[in-house]
Amino acid sequence: MHNSIERVLLTEEQIKARVAQLGQALAADYRDKTPIFVGILKGVVVFFADMIRAVQIPCQIDFMAVSSYSGTASTGKIQLLKDLSVDITGRHVVILEDILDSGLTLQHTVEYLQSKHPASVKICTFLDKPEGRKADIQADYVGFSVPNLFVVGYGLDYDEAYRNLPYVGVLKPEAYSK
Ligand code: IMP
Ligand code: MG
Repeated sequence: MHNSIERVLLTEEQIKARVAQLGQALAADYRDKTPIFVGILKGVVVFFADMIRAVQIPCQIDFMAVSSYSGTASTGKIQLLKDLSVDITGRHVVILEDILDSGLTLQHTVEYLQSKHPASVKICTFLDKPEGRKADIQADYVGFSVPNLFVVGYGLDYDEAYRNLPYVGVLKPEAYSK
């Protein structure tokens, strides 16, 4: 285990088993729909790569990078750092996200995607932190619900570090104060 990690919350084996289940659920719901999986960079990359291989149906992929305007999240604005590169009009979109916390970023992202008139937009999040929620938004597919702790690994970062840990862990307090 990495020496900045206090404890492992989700092991590689637990994650693998859950991703397989989610993949089967999505495959059943989107059979014959050729969904477009839209990953929200960068935290989603590990989950995204595992998920698209777990969904054994025809699909397409795309990515967006967004960030909340600092201090003005409540005004309903997101900054689009990277836009879609495929046309989603009339298509079934599944947003893949690393973690749903306040929900503010995703709420604005969903509004943005809806403005392009897709056939549907659903949310699949690896982790859900329901206690952190500020926006009225729920995921349609959730890997794991987690307590209100700061977690890293499997794509999730603290200050851009720890994304490549194969498990999800809780950081030691001293790792924050460096
Ligand atoms: P929100 O739902 O708009 O608050 O934003 C969620 C984003 O905050 C995620 O995509 C992560 O980048 C980040 N985030 C929230 N909680 C955590 C955490 O526990 N670890 C790492 N990143 C987090
Ligand atoms: Mg992130």
